[in-house]
Amino acid sequence: MSIIESVLNETRVFLPSNEFAKKANIPNIERYHALCAEAEQDFQGFWAKQAKEQILWHQPFTQILDDRTPPFYKWFGDGELNVSYNCLDRHLSTQANKVAIIFESDDGEVIRCSYRELHQHVCQFANALKLQNIKKGDRVIIYMPMRIEAVVAMQACARIGAIHSVVFGGFSAKSLHERIVDAKAAAIITADEQVRGGKHNALKATVDEAMSMGDTESVKRVVVYRRTGAQVSFEAPRDVWWHEIIRDVSTQCEPEWINAEHPLFTLYTSGSTGKPKGVQHSSAGYLLGTKVSMQWIFDYQPTDIFWCTADVGWITGHSYVCYGPLAMGATQVIFEGIPTYPNAGRFWEIIQKHKVTTFYTAPTAIRSLIKLGADLPAQYDLSSLRLLGSVGEPINPEAWMWFYEKVGQSRCPIVDTWWQTETGCHMIAPMPGAVGLKPGSCTFPLPGIFASVVDEAGHDVENGKGGFLVIKKPFPSQIRTLWGDTERFKKTYFPEEIGHGNYYLAGDSAYCDCDGYFWIMGRIDDVLNVSGHRLGTMEIESALVAHPLVAEAAVVGKPHEIKGEAVVAFVVLKGQYPHEKEADEITNVLREWVAKEIGPIAKPEEIRFGENLPKTRSGKIMRRLLRTLAKGEEITQDISTLENPAILEQLKNPAQ
Ligand code: PRX
Repeated sequence: MSIIESVLNETRVFLPSNEFAKKANIPNIERYHALCAEAEQDFQGFWAKQAKEQILWHQPFTQILDDRTPPFYKWFGDGELNVSYNCLDRHLSTQANKVAIIFESDDGEVIRCSYRELHQHVCQFANALKLQNIKKGDRVIIYMPMRIEAVVAMQACARIGAIHSVVFGGFSAKSLHERIVDAKAAAIITADEQVRGGKHNALKATVDEAMSMGDTESVKRVVVYRRTGAQVSFEAPRDVWWHEIIRDVSTQCEPEWINAEHPLFTLYTSGSTGKPKGVQHSSAGYLLGTKVSMQWIFDYQPTDIFWCTADVGWITGHSYVCYGPLAMGATQVIFEGIPTYPNAGRFWEIIQKHKVTTFYTAPTAIRSLIKLGADLPAQYDLSSLRLLGSVGEPINPEAWMWFYEKVGQSRCPIVDTWWQTETGCHMIAPMPGAVGLKPGSCTFPLPGIFASVVDEAGHDVENGKGGFLVIKKPFPSQIRTLWGDTERFKKTYFPEEIGHGNYYLAGDSAYCDCDGYFWIMGRIDDVLNVSGHRLGTMEIESALVAHPLVAEAAVVGKPHEIKGEAVVAFVVLKGQYPHEKEADEITNVLREWVAKEIGPIAKPEEIRFGENLPKTRSGKIMRRLLRTLAKGEEITQDISTLENPAILEQLKNPAQ
């Protein structure tokens, strides 16, 4: 039994103010406990009740959970609905003129889009997609800037039952290609360029490059949104302009009524081995998860101005930009740019200007905002804020305190939300009107989420002891499978060894403190968390060894002040061990190479060269030693199984 030691010892508790609690959807801990008790007594009944209340069904479901073939669970399996209908049409009779999206472009232009207008845009684009012969079940890659049109594209796919797969605009042609091929995409929706921080990034040219890499015959259409008017190459009849295909097209579009289990989307995420995994989500269960969490965790109020800073290329941008807020009928801010452009006060300015009430971002952003100007928030009127949120990695207590005091002015609770691409919505997070907060803890599971910390045999560990974070019962918003790889899905998330394949294994280690608060300690697999994004070490290693100069590579993480973790690569070259100047040059070449192969976020912060890597006698790379070396710490571990101890000396110093 391996016990993972925890080191944090945080004892402060921050209770919600009476004023906040009074107005909150879940106003006290008793109400939270009552919901949990209801779910514990009859968890299927609990979710069925939620699904009836929250979703507009075209065909009501009669079956709740189908668990006959675990872990391939189905929820509400005979129901029919449309997710886009639930996000748009349902608001038309009650609040058609309410602003759905306040869009602010990189250069500060503001566009307000009401629910009526958004509905029209989505319907029109959905009709246009149909006219381009894109049908229910087709996979559509969306490679777009962070603009209203990205949401329109996703919602339009949902409307016609096409399965979208959004690829983050920072990914390289190679990564994009991999996703196109894996999904056998029928279409790609992109833009001429993306603009962030005044810089232009050629999206269409990247699509062209990806398309030229082979095996892309499935793609019949590339729809191009004109963002900047930059010159792009066009290949007829494959390429079409967004503005041309919607011309004279109706703004009414009857939604495709689909089964509850019809895949709404796939989204690729890193795993510890091999290629990225296409996480497949359902329609009804996923929608339900995003909706209940909007109410429970973001305490959604109709007067809110909600702002989640995540790009739609990540799960956070799916659940809390494209689906959750719209399903609730919220007004939300969408921002195209970056926090530092044109100055370091951009985020605070946006909050002030649009009177944001709920601000959801990542610890890495918070840390960089501190660095940019810890006192900057004081120069802005942030009095509209009432709730703050954090996601992507554990938030260190110092950053938490700064966020709480300087941004929230000690008035706004912080919801630290633990969840994953695979879970679809928040899993462990505080209900802000009910739960006392401890900086750095994501607190308690949502009602109906049976999270636990277990040992290798799947037994609960006692409070205070670390172990594997699992979810013991199925839940509606969970991953359904990995696109085209059911075996990998089973092995990765429902391993036989832990809980006999019955528990969802999150891949994180965690512990519960003496009050039952959950604390996430990090990943248990070879996955790094760089700026809140999961990067598989294997992926980066494969990219490195694909370079003609590289014979062998091992990648580990080291703590980084802003990014959380930074990528450190240990590389053995095919040629001779490089001298200083050569090492610098090759470092630059390899960094650029990784950026091109995967995307700039995967660029190694540091590359160290060696004539070999530390290996056991059986040839396994001893990563724990590399982690210690990367941190610049002395090796105190047992190295008796190490075949080549002399190598450690060589790898100790960054080659500068
Ligand atoms: O390690 C956990 C960390 O991010 C992983 C999920 O990454 P991804 O699928 O990219 O989704 C990120 C956005 C939901 C988790 O396995 N993580 C996410 N949120 C937290 C977190 N770690 C600690 N605290 C969090 N609030």
